[in-house]
Amino acid sequence: MKPKLFIPGPTHVDEEILRAISQYPIGHRTNDYRELQSKVVSGIKEVLFTEQSVLLSTSSATGLMEAGVRNLSKKKVANFVCGAFSERQADLTRIAGLDQDVFHVDWGQPTLPDQVDSALSRGDYDLVTVVFNETSTGVMNPIAEIGEVLKNYPDTLLMVDAVSGMMGAPLKVDEWGIDMSLASVQKAWALPPGFAVMSLSDRALERSKSILESQKGYYFDFVRMHKAGEKSQTTVTPSIPHIYGLSVQLDRIKAEGIENRFARHREMANRVRQWGKERFGLYAHAGYESDTLTCFTNDMGIDLIALAEEMKKRNYLISGGYGDLKGKTFRIAHMGDLQIEDIDDVLNVLDEVISGL
Ligand SMILES: Cc1ncc(COP(=O)(O)O)c(C=O)c1O
Repeated sequence: MKPKLFIPGPTHVDEEILRAISQYPIGHRTNDYRELQSKVVSGIKEVLFTEQSVLLSTSSATGLMEAGVRNLSKKKVANFVCGAFSERQADLTRIAGLDQDVFHVDWGQPTLPDQVDSALSRGDYDLVTVVFNETSTGVMNPIAEIGEVLKNYPDTLLMVDAVSGMMGAPLKVDEWGIDMSLASVQKAWALPPGFAVMSLSDRALERSKSILESQKGYYFDFVRMHKAGEKSQTTVTPSIPHIYGLSVQLDRIKAEGIENRFARHREMANRVRQWGKERFGLYAHAGYESDTLTCFTNDMGIDLIALAEEMKKRNYLISGGYGDLKGKTFRIAHMGDLQIEDIDDVLNVLDEVISGL
């Protein structure tokens, strides 16, 4: 028996999705395909609360993180860093050779609107990068409030890495003023890894049009991707199995109801946090705990490697600390298609294992 996934990606994949992705492929330049892509893109727009563009990418999320800074900045980027993945975004900006300033907070703390406002009031930035849900620390940033700040800086675009938050918590792309949001599908979308989705505002598309191809490259040129998207196509051969999977997953999300899906994530998060507070500590600053994963401090001083190993023996996969937190924290994901019963189950088994360590 395969271990059930309680790691923050890849997450548990339902049998119905597994069946959908194993369908026989269709030609990606056919009308059948166009219909499929069109349905998927409309469905994604609905759940991201956006009327702007949605683009599909056969890559993991990091491809789109790299593409975002390369397509959307020609002046200077303000990267807000609160953990390992937002740090990666800053690295990708540096590697692209773009002008940048990086604004840190201590790990476990959120990026707050005041910090963003103070940075933007002092520098001439054309792009802000911020993470929605920092998977390394279990912090969920207040993107709506950060988006409010950005409204006072009309030439500055807002790019949000929503990898482990999208579909697990509301991401109101248009209302919050997000110019680009992105996520891979192996997190709260609950599909197997290998595919990513993004939203792109009209003004972000205009910015990309003004950027040299030598900076953007071919594969991830948003203008090319958008042009193909208008015909319900992709620039390159897409991972058709993932698009089959997304189509079925969007039907499932609709049947559950998007608000119910978010409420389920909140309920699972509350259960895990309560459990964690009674036994360990929570790494995320109070009030900014993620609804999709929880990062625990090791207050009981238990052997975290043994804990993960013992869980695996019982067919449950949990995660250790990530990056600088390796060996110091551990994480449980409560996202995607996991249900409250799965959470109760894994917490009971954790208790049993911990008592024997
Ligand atoms: C917040 C965040 N950003 C980016 C990534 C990178 O995503 P991918 O592995 O799909 O490139 C991850 C992966 O865990 C993540 O959690």
